[in-house]
Amino acid sequence: MSHPRIAVIGLGYVGLPLAVAVARYFPTVGFDIDPGRIAELRRGEDRTGEVPAADLRQSALELSAEAEAMRGAEVFIVTVPTPVTADNQPDLGPLMAACRTVGAVLGKGAVVVFESTVYPGVTEDICGPALEQVSSLTAGRDFFLGYSPERINPGDREHGVEHIVKVVAGQTPAVTDRLAQVYGTVTRGGVHRAASIRVAEAAKAIENAQRDINIAFINEVSMICRGLGISVHDVLDTAGTKWNFLPFKPGLVGGHCIGVDPFYLAECARAVGHHPEIILAGRRINDGMGQFVADAIHQALDGRPSDILVLGLTFKENVPDLRNTKVVDVVARLSGLGHRVSVHDACADPAAALAAYGLALTPDLVDGRADCLLGAVAHRAYADLPADRLAALVRPGGLIADLKGMWRGLVLPDGLRRWQL
Ligand SMILES: NC(=O)c1ccc[n+]([C@@H]2O[C@H](COP(=O)([O-])OP(=O)(O)OC[C@H]3O[C@@H](n4cnc5c(N)ncnc54)[C@H](O)[C@@H]3O)[C@@H](O)[C@H]2O)c1
Repeated sequence: MSHPRIAVIGLGYVGLPLAVAVARYFPTVGFDIDPGRIAELRRGEDRTGEVPAADLRQSALELSAEAEAMRGAEVFIVTVPTPVTADNQPDLGPLMAACRTVGAVLGKGAVVVFESTVYPGVTEDICGPALEQVSSLTAGRDFFLGYSPERINPGDREHGVEHIVKVVAGQTPAVTDRLAQVYGTVTRGGVHRAASIRVAEAAKAIENAQRDINIAFINEVSMICRGLGISVHDVLDTAGTKWNFLPFKPGLVGGHCIGVDPFYLAECARAVGHHPEIILAGRRINDGMGQFVADAIHQALDGRPSDILVLGLTFKENVPDLRNTKVVDVVARLSGLGHRVSVHDACADPAAALAAYGLALTPDLVDGRADCLLGAVAHRAYADLPADRLAALVRPGGLIADLKGMWRGLVLPDGLRRWQL
């Protein structure tokens, strides 16, 4: 298997850049269950903004919404979503569907690698049996399992699939070696062989839980600072002069990873009889942040029903990704408190915002219509706004609310009020 045929299943934020990178070195087919996604990719359009049109058009990647196109592949890489249910339980539905699809075209000797974020045990105890059932093959004998966590960050060009350390783990040492060879060809960041599939699964889950908990701590500090009447940013600037102080920032924690993966870790903690206190406390604090921010702004507006213009809806800056954005919590709470809230986003697709949240985005930034301007996402287009432009967007005496601290360095014209965490 020196030059294996590879299939990538699920061509989203993770799967598409990976498939394009893999296709530079190996014959590769990219499969997605959504024919609309395949059609747009064939036209050279990636709505996630992760792969430039030129790279997509030049790529040797074969694209298909037909599972049969994957038959004969020697390595299957699964990158489908792993969300949570409404009550924050892991939803393995898409993963199980992908196992049924792969199982139906799986051949002897193939390796099935999961990149979707899961909790320890999912690959071997849940996906393996699901693949066996459909394929009538036996894991560890006829085909082999592997896990290689994905670490990319939407919108982060510095840490793309070809530059980061890739963790690999196979069901046997020989499978780990095969995966190290495949991934080692694709990335210049090096390969780390994890001790086992469970170790690799656990490592991914704790990487994201660690970020969640650290941000939760700083969010809690921001609540204390509010009570003290001091700026959490000033406190962080000061504490950050110590050599080992960790540079986390307060804010909303949304998206498909940091706000979701700790629930996967919590689930496996419970399965081994441990109540996960810190993990769930972090989740509670971060999930409550939208309400905290909205209540603080409401108070800064003296509780008067106001016109509020929110800049930014996506879950993070400079990406169109609206999944699990917590800006909607701020908008809902402010609306519930009687304010008239409109939302502008420089990166999001208005149709996607309407479909996901019933929010009609304001197409233009019109001067002098708002009592309060709330900078919720630090898209470049907002972070670069000069003080006179911010001032023009609000009525005289208006409030500039800076959730991200992106306008801290600006001197605002006299008469404007300012709120920040
Ligand atoms: N987005 C990130 O930055 C990131 C980073 C690290 C890890 N992850 C993990 O990677 C996995 C994928 O995340 P994503 O952000 O790429 O998701 P995504 O929603 O962007 O993409 C998933 C793709 O899979 C397709 N799909 C769904 N079910 C399928 C099925 N049964 N068969 C084939 N295709 C199917 C969807 O149509 C979609 O195109 C998740 O487990 C996530 O936690 C994501």
